Amino acid sequence: MNLKIAALAGDGIGPEVILQAKKALYAIGLVFDHEFVFEDAFVGAIAIDKTGNPLPEQTLNLCLNTDAVLFGAIGDPKYDNNPDAKVRPEQGLLKLRKSLGLFANIRPIKPYASLLNSSPLKKEIIQDADFIIFRELTGGVYFGEKKLNETGTIASDLCEYSEEEIIRISHLAFKSAQNRRKKVTMVDKANVLETSRLWRRVVKKVSEDYPDVALDFLFVDNAAMQIILNPRQFDVILTENLFGDILSDEASVITGSIGLLASASLGKTNALFEPIHGSYPQATGKNIANPIASILSAAMLLEHFGLHKEAKKVYEAVEKAIEYNVVTVDLNADSKFGTNEVGDFISNVILSKDDLYFKIDNIKIGQSTIV
Ligand code: IPM
Ligand code: MN
Repeated sequence: MNLKIAALAGDGIGPEVILQAKKALYAIGLVFDHEFVFEDAFVGAIAIDKTGNPLPEQTLNLCLNTDAVLFGAIGDPKYDNNPDAKVRPEQGLLKLRKSLGLFANIRPIKPYASLLNSSPLKKEIIQDADFIIFRELTGGVYFGEKKLNETGTIASDLCEYSEEEIIRISHLAFKSAQNRRKKVTMVDKANVLETSRLWRRVVKKVSEDYPDVALDFLFVDNAAMQIILNPRQFDVILTENLFGDILSDEASVITGSIGLLASASLGKTNALFEPIHGSYPQATGKNIANPIASILSAAMLLEHFGLHKEAKKVYEAVEKAIEYNVVTVDLNADSKFGTNEVGDFISNVILSKDDLYFKIDNIKIGQSTIV
């Protein structure tokens, strides 16, 4: 298969982690005879610095004309701490999601067996948790009208949803549940919000097309509690934009590190793959950021194009890195491995035919990962 991929590294640790994802994809290309061609473009704070625009025209055009987008991270403290900034890096990502029509953000949550102790949550609670969050990505309060009165003392953000916006993501969530444990949990705040009541009505209607899938409802405050109290109860969580944003960060605690979580953002004709973590400015350039979320995003890209064997190879290589403790400091405080080394290890596992390729003793003492 030939794929043209737009690589939008973005800010902070973005360039470091995306490099590791590219390495993994090149390795897959070599082993399985595919050609992945990357084209780099600016987005976020770095794009503002260079062009004044967080999503330059050139970047958007590239994304509109590629098979997929691999996204790094976005955000910079110089904007976070300045509420008066007129242009913000995040606007680049939001505009990109909207322009590419990426209405469904899919975030799988599953702890690795060997990392059960890395989570601050008790092992008995998180063991065997395995769920996916379907977060609506182009509607709701993120995109509703924003207002600030003339004196700058009253502000509002409109939360708006149409039936159509709810229907299209709901079908994806139910289809996913059909291939899993056949349960959809819709998370909302229907006791307070009109939009949530619309979601409930529409999702109930859509569920009639999927009689084999059980549907239940949870208010978001309760869901936030249930996710850490009993995460095993969930199979597919379906929710609106802001609730999905918040719950997916919370759910990352189950896996031990937010540096492990990947996501796919899908539209009718476009697809973008990105880690759920942010730009982690404190770690920029230090070779300490966990590249696994970015590498797993590349695996989700492969799956999207039906390259399941290839994706499996990436998942196995990541598992091997975790099994051999070739991980960054977020997962092992004493680790001698950095972003690059973890990325090298994973792409070398992809390229290798068997385990003998690795000198486990060297790995243990934190030296070379390759014979
Ligand atoms: C995410 C991020 C973004 C969001 C930010 C960077 C705009 O937190 O992808 O979860 O809120 O959607
Ligand atoms: Mn978020």
